[in-house]
Amino acid sequence: MPESIFYRQYMGESDLPHIMALVQSELSEPYVIYTFRYFLHQWPHLSFLAYPSDSGNADPVGVIVCKQSMHRDLTNRGYIAMLSVDKKWRKRGIDYGEKPHLLASALVKNSMRAMKEGGVDEIVLETEYDNFAALSLYESLGFIREKRLYRFYLNGKDAFRLVLVVPPPDQQQQIDDDGENTPPAQSSLAQRYRRSMAHRAICVSPYSDDEDEVSSR
Ligand SMILES: CC(C)(COP(=O)(O)OP(=O)(O)OC[C@H]1O[C@@H](n2cnc3c(N)ncnc32)[C@H](O)[C@@H]1OP(=O)(O)O)[C@@H](O)C(=O)NCCC(=O)NCCS
Repeated sequence: MPESIFYRQYMGESDLPHIMALVQSELSEPYVIYTFRYFLHQWPHLSFLAYPSDSGNADPVGVIVCKQSMHRDLTNRGYIAMLSVDKKWRKRGIDYGEKPHLLASALVKNSMRAMKEGGVDEIVLETEYDNFAALSLYESLGFIREKRLYRFYLNGKDAFRLVLVVPPPDQQQQIDDDGENTPPAQSSLAQRYRRSMAHRAICVSPYSDDEDEVSSR
């Protein structure tokens, strides 16, 4: 069975080498230390590390690095910059069906919770168009594909921009209740939320890399 995991916020420079090691071994972009510091020094409360609780292991097995700022003076936007889970600790939920532990999902949820405390309106990120694990993870949390960005990465690959619209807390409760209890025809707030998400979505079939299906935005 999987060990239990605990999560904590970024605490300071001593976390930096661990975060860099996990990210640099897995993400194709060659981030420099200043990029890490840009995020971690300004938004330490949005970045989390995951540790196995009973191993005495000093090294984290998962990290997430984020920011949150106003976009065009209009939207309080959260941004997930980096997410990485040690290979040995991935797909725990898939491997251990009876007691699933979704490590990356838990990291994203921790950051989302912290962003919500800061009044976030939407959360965005980019991922390589063929990163099926990441696309599947974010889509399972309600993110949708908003744009395809040509040759976004230094390795020449395209990216998908994913977005999650976050309703204000009072409306979120109503949307959850509507979704569960009210027939679709009457659930106006939930419907409006779904429509606003659908409006922003591009039309791509799951995991397609067909150039014809690229967004024009
Ligand atoms: C993407 C990544 C963070 C997922 O980590 P993880 O801990 O295995 O993910 P979780 O266990 O939380 O999985 C949550 C959901 O994501 C999806 N998922 C995760 N890995 C998947 C895979 N290899 N194939 C398909 N779906 C996958 C599943 O829907 C899963 O839910 P389920 O188990 O109930 O089906 C990990 O593969 C990783 O670090 N990859 C390299 C770095 C990277 O690509 N980062 C994202 C850049 S934006």
